[in-house]
Amino acid sequence: MRVVTIANQKGGCGKTTSSINLAASLAHLGKRVLLIDLDPQGHASFGLGVETKEKEKTIYHLLNNTKNIDVKKCIVNIRKHFDLMPSHVLLSTIEQAFKDKPNAVLKLSGIIEMVDPPYDYTIIDSPPNLGFLTFSALRASSRVIIPIETSCFSLVGLNKLLSMIELIKIKLNHTTLVSGLVTIYDKRIRYSQLILEEIKKCFKDNLLETIIGINISLREAASFGKPVIEYNKYCAGTKDYLRLAEEILKDNKTRDLDKFFKDAEDIISRAKSILVKFTLSSPEARYVYVVGDFNNWSLDDNSQLENDRSGQWQKSYTLKPGRYRYKFVVDGRWIHDPDNPHKEDNIFGSVDSVLNLE
Ligand SMILES: Nc1ncnc2c1ncn2[C@@H]1O[C@H](COP(=O)(O)OP(=O)(O)O)[C@@H](O)[C@H]1O
Ligand SMILES: [Mg+2]
Repeated sequence: MRVVTIANQKGGCGKTTSSINLAASLAHLGKRVLLIDLDPQGHASFGLGVETKEKEKTIYHLLNNTKNIDVKKCIVNIRKHFDLMPSHVLLSTIEQAFKDKPNAVLKLSGIIEMVDPPYDYTIIDSPPNLGFLTFSALRASSRVIIPIETSCFSLVGLNKLLSMIELIKIKLNHTTLVSGLVTIYDKRIRYSQLILEEIKKCFKDNLLETIIGINISLREAASFGKPVIEYNKYCAGTKDYLRLAEEILKDNKTRDLDKFFKDAEDIISRAKSILVKFTLSSPEARYVYVVGDFNNWSLDDNSQLENDRSGQWQKSYTLKPGRYRYKFVVDGRWIHDPDNPHKEDNIFGSVDSVLNLE
């Protein structure tokens, strides 16, 4: 049995969508699959049309009272080969309840081992933080998939997730295969292409080959409480997740984790950077520059924006987290960014735009 956790403390990067649709695709390919919804928000349960009422048995009840509850009672059948262990809003209280219990982190692995007969694959959808639940999921898994969306690139915070995986290896002697998964990729947008290049440079061969493109059917399917394969069999989302399932099935390699952590150091050093795109709409302008703390306010070729012919000007910078002041210079005229509400007076009696990168 393989246990795959989908983790990233950033919300909205496609964890739940990937959990549901990877699970459904593996089941479609004939594997017996259990999806555990470990997020107190219960989006995976909701996305499969399962609402958990107060009295029902869920993963919360199991974690809380492992000895007295039959694991099987906490499993809901969704489709052929595809079962769900639903979430419960009270999962959020587990953190506090278990914080002084040193072995509590092993409970989830114990529960998964108790399931009889075992599933071929157990997929865990984790919450958007790095608390006890995510830690337990990482400890229970043989593989971790980190979804990274390409509409806004920030590896900030990823270092914490990677450190957690390393800690599990050192302290709990448990090794997990780690790979990135590009999600919500819009190939028509040049900015997304730039981000994809960055991600490839960072992750090297620790990136899954399958790329999940942006596809409205994925969003719609979740709102109808279905995996995408049942909602629209022929859409790109269905094809992408089937391809991902095939890649996961094929991949029996045990990659060298020490090498991964070496790569991860590189990822972490890059993780401190954020790709920021400056844009200005100014169809009449002939030259536009962006100057600020990040480029010493210097007007030169490096600070010049490119025009896409429709009057949209843009320029991308890779910046470290911090606070930056900047202005646009449009045909010699210094203006603040009209699309950025964050402004501050400067010593010259005008205002600068302010960018806060966390
Ligand atoms: N490939 C995709 N194309 C279009 N929308 C997507 C895609 N993946 C996820 N979404 C949508 O983006 C939002 C966030 O995705 P979700 O899977 O819930 O992220 P997370 O679990 O990381 O918070 C949801 O509304 C979801 O339907
Ligand atoms: Mg989610």
